[in-house]
Amino acid sequence: MPTILVTGSAGFIGSNFVRFVRTQRPDWRVIAFDALTYAGNLENLSDCLHDGVCRFIRGDIADGRALEPCFADGLDAVVNFAAESHVDRSILGAQEFVRTNVIGLQVLLDLARTYPVRRFLQVSTDEVYGSLGSEGFFSEETPLAPNSPYSASKAAADLLARAYHKTFDLPILVTRCSNNYGPYQFPEKLIPLFVTNLLGKQRVPLYGDGLNVRDWIHVEDHCEALLTVLEQAPPGSTYNIGGRRELPNIEIARRILQHLGHDESWIQYVKDRPGHDRRYSVDIARIERDLGWRPRIDFEKGLAQTIEWYRTNEPWWRRIKTGDYLTYYEKQYGRRDSGGRTVGGVVGADR
Ligand code: NAD
Ligand code: DAU
Repeated sequence: MPTILVTGSAGFIGSNFVRFVRTQRPDWRVIAFDALTYAGNLENLSDCLHDGVCRFIRGDIADGRALEPCFADGLDAVVNFAAESHVDRSILGAQEFVRTNVIGLQVLLDLARTYPVRRFLQVSTDEVYGSLGSEGFFSEETPLAPNSPYSASKAAADLLARAYHKTFDLPILVTRCSNNYGPYQFPEKLIPLFVTNLLGKQRVPLYGDGLNVRDWIHVEDHCEALLTVLEQAPPGSTYNIGGRRELPNIEIARRILQHLGHDESWIQYVKDRPGHDRRYSVDIARIERDLGWRPRIDFEKGLAQTIEWYRTNEPWWRRIKTGDYLTYYEKQYGRRDSGGRTVGGVVGADR
C-alpha cells in the first residue's frame, strides 16, 4: 500500500488534495503534515482523519526533527503544498516566506536524499513567471521573473528543486498552477473574501482599476492534474496547470455580486497592491499533450457552486473571521505546553 506525505495538508489546496486522493486512491496511506499557521485549519480535514487511512501530524517543514520520523518509516511520495501563500502578506514581511517556502523545501529535499522516495512533487505557481501585458502566455520555458516576495520565494524553491534533481538525481516534479478557487479557501484571497464580505453585508475591496487579469481553475481540476503528474510525469519535469479561463478582477466581482443579488455600489475601489502583476495566462499544452489532462469544470458552474458552498458553510468562515478556528485543534485534541501554546501531535490511526 503506497504511503504519501502531504505537507501543507490543512490549507486550501492541500486539504482538497487529501480528500481527492482518499476517493481516487482509497488504498493509499496519507500522512497529512501541517504546522497549522493562521492559514492551516484542521477543520478542513475533519472528515478525513478518523477512517484509519489518513494520519495528521502537526509540525513545521523547516524542522527536520519533526519530519524525520515520517521519512524514516518509508515514504513512496512527497507532495509539498506547505507555504506562505498570500502575496499581500509577503509585502508586509518576507521572513516567513523565505523560511517556509525556501528553507522548508531544502529541509524536505535533504530528508529525501537520506531516505529516498519514488516521487517528490513541489507544488509551485504561475506567479514565478512574473507579469504579462495584454498579449502572450507563460510556457514552461518562460524565464522566471517573480515580482513579489511571495513569488520570489516560490521561484527560489523551484530552482532549489531543479538543482537537487540535477545534482543528486532526486525524482523531482514541479507544477506551476494558476489561480485556484473552490471550497475551503481562506477568506483573504479574492473570491472567498468577496463572497464572505457580501454574505456578511460588507463591501468588497477592488485593487487599482480592477483590470488585472487572472487565469482561474477549480481546485478539483488542480488536484486531478497533480495526481496525474505525480503518477505519470518523468522525474525532472515541470508542468504548467491552468483553467484556460482568463478574467479581469472586475468581472469576477460582477459575477459574485450578481449571484448574491447586489449591484456595483458594493464595490469599493482601493489603493493598488504594490508591484501588482497585471496579467497571468498559462499555456497548458504540455500537460495536455504529454499526460492527457485538461481542466473539466466550467468556470460559471464552478463559481456558482463555490459561492453556494460558502453560503452553506457559514459557520466555517465565521469561525475564521472571528479567530475561533485557531483553537479548533486544541479544543479537539487538547495538546498544550506549559506556556499554554499548542504543541505538535498526531491525530488519526494507521490502519
Ligand atoms: P494555504 O495558505 O491555504 O495553505 C498553506 C498551508 O501550509 C497551511 O495549511 C499552512 O498551515 C501550511 N504551512 C505554512 N507554513 C508551514 C510550515 N512551515 N510547515 C508546515 N506547514 C506549513 O495555501 P494554498 O492556497 O492551499 O496553496 C498551497 C500551495 O499551492 C502553495 O505552495 C502555493 O504556493 C501553491 N499554489 C497556490 C495557488 C492558489 O491559487 N491558491 C495556485 C498555485 C499554486
Ligand atoms: O497565480 C497563482 C497564485 O494565485 C498563487 O500562487 C497564490 O498563492 C494565490 O494567492 C494567488 O495569488 P493572487 O495574488 O493572484 O491572488 P489574490 O486572491 O490575492 O488576488 C487575485 C487578484 O485580485 C489580484 O489581481 C489582486 C486582486 N485583489 C485581491 C484581493 C485579496 C483585489 O482586487 N482585492 C482583494 O481584496
